[in-house]
Amino acid sequence: MTTPNNELRVKASGVDIAGLRKSYGSNEVLKGIDLTVKPGEVVCLIGPSGSGKSTLLRCVNLLEQPNGGTIHVAGFETTDPEVNLDKMRQNVGMVFQQFNLFPHLTVLENCTVAQLKVLKRSKNDAEKTARENLERVGLGDFGGRYPDQLSGGQQQRVAIARALSMEPTLMLFDEPTSALDPETVGEVLSIMKNLAKSGMTMLVVTHEMSFAKEVADRVVFMDGGVVVEEGKAVEVIGNPQQPRTQDFLRRVLDPTHVDI
Ligand SMILES: Nc1ncnc2c1ncn2[C@@H]1O[C@H](COP(=O)(O)OP(=O)(O)OP(=O)(O)O)[C@@H](O)[C@H]1O
Ligand SMILES: [Mg+2]
Repeated sequence: MTTPNNELRVKASGVDIAGLRKSYGSNEVLKGIDLTVKPGEVVCLIGPSGSGKSTLLRCVNLLEQPNGGTIHVAGFETTDPEVNLDKMRQNVGMVFQQFNLFPHLTVLENCTVAQLKVLKRSKNDAEKTARENLERVGLGDFGGRYPDQLSGGQQQRVAIARALSMEPTLMLFDEPTSALDPETVGEVLSIMKNLAKSGMTMLVVTHEMSFAKEVADRVVFMDGGVVVEEGKAVEVIGNPQQPRTQDFLRRVLDPTHVDI
């Protein structure tokens, strides 16, 4: 294994999801999901549009309130009504398809604002941590720029640096490269690969099958709010057992495929 960028190692925590249910009105979107990510493990979540992948991710840090089941993250039971939400969320970094950077703040300020407000770090400490993480995503010289002066790939790398600046023990990615121009996808995937090598626990929703095959320890295929198949990345992607997984992968790996 090659040495990651700047040899930063991370504290890692796992996720344990059991019997997770979530409905919107009468529409049950998650129908009893069991999913474990061990500390330091990388799990890629794949599945068709509407299968509940984003909802599952959003339940992990309680951006959505589950209707049933339990979720344990970093020693917190997030589904416990008494849970300290702020403390729990400090452990969980999230990167979305849309980068959600603050347009009126510089890159450096985007990476310090939550450190100052939530972690109550001094400006000096926050800037030092932000600079380290911008360095880590290859944007050490970009602190003074504004988001609209960056490419999509660079903005997504800032979003990753911002999340890492909170020193999470788990990172959730929801299709982080789907909104990018094809030529900038690789730079973001390469940062994620380095992060995986540094020991970060990662739960990644992605359609990038080559990334999943190469980086994921396990792949979980979801459809219709249930886990249909899971296993080693090479097995699930290379030799899927369930017809629904086979059908999905045929479509993703060959977008011109039509059933006749
Ligand atoms: N806030 C909401 N209110 C009502 N329904 C919702 C809400 N969020 C999601 N849904 C519904 O839940 C289902 C699952 O949505 P979700 O976004 O989790 O799917 P997904 O697997 O992430 O899909 P995609 O690949 O398109 O991102 C969909 O039918 C969606 O319409
Ligand atoms: Mg989604």
